[in-house]
Amino acid sequence: MNRMEFWTPDMISFMKDAALKTEYFKVLARRVRSLCPDATTVCDAGCGTGELSLQLSNLFENVIGADLSKDAIDSLRQEACKRGIDNIRAVNCNLLKDSPESVAGSLKPDVMVFSFFGRVSQAFEIARRFGCQKAVIVKRAYTFHRFSLTGVPIDNDISFREELKSLTGSYQEEEFEVEFGQPFRSVEDALRFFEIYSRDTDRSVLTIQNIEKLLEKTGDSEFPFYLRKNRKCLLILADTGGK
Ligand SMILES: C[S@@+](CC[C@H](N)C(=O)[O-])C[C@H]1O[C@@H](n2cnc3c(N)ncnc32)[C@H](O)[C@@H]1O
Repeated sequence: MNRMEFWTPDMISFMKDAALKTEYFKVLARRVRSLCPDATTVCDAGCGTGELSLQLSNLFENVIGADLSKDAIDSLRQEACKRGIDNIRAVNCNLLKDSPESVAGSLKPDVMVFSFFGRVSQAFEIARRFGCQKAVIVKRAYTFHRFSLTGVPIDNDISFREELKSLTGSYQEEEFEVEFGQPFRSVEDALRFFEIYSRDTDRSVLTIQNIEKLLEKTGDSEFPFYLRKNRKCLLILADTGGK
């Protein structure tokens, strides 16, 4: 589906650091809660390392965090255990193929959140199969890649509204923007991060000197460097017709 299906230890560690040092997932979880005030059980579909699931666990009775990556799910399980959180069911699965029973057990999601997960049609297909009427779909609302040095435009899927209209008569959308930067333990760490995530075609721009110029010095002994970035997202609440 996309390259984040594959979570390396470095990617997991960078994501956990960003979640720890920014309010992004907390803000997103509150937005989801406000869109679904009556829901009891939420499924974070394609949860990755489950940073959103961990925040949702404070706001919903039950959370299902489901992802194709075993390593990402192991990370979520460890983090939930470390924080004493016992209302997250973390499941390593393929949401497009596995049965709802094997994913959700005795739970039935009232809402499924698809944050940066494939196409709108896939979200609908999964939500309907799970008998879930509400889907919250989070998509990017920015036009340039956030972690490239040379202004790389993003090939945004502009057809998704057409797709949405063909799938449902009822949806609403709202934009939100929140800081979602990346803390670093060293400048070398930052270079490794850019080597993983940058989409610059000219890789020679990825030097310590160029990257150091982008970083703020924080005075924090664990994370002395910070790459300040906002993330602008589109939040779509849709009636999937699932029962
Ligand atoms: C771009 S990441 C988004 C992670 C997280 N939701 C977030 O917003 O940070 C997409 C995630 O979807 C997962 N994924 C892709 N296809 C999947 C499938 N068929 N079933 C379950 N998870 C899937 C990937 O493993 C990856 O973790």
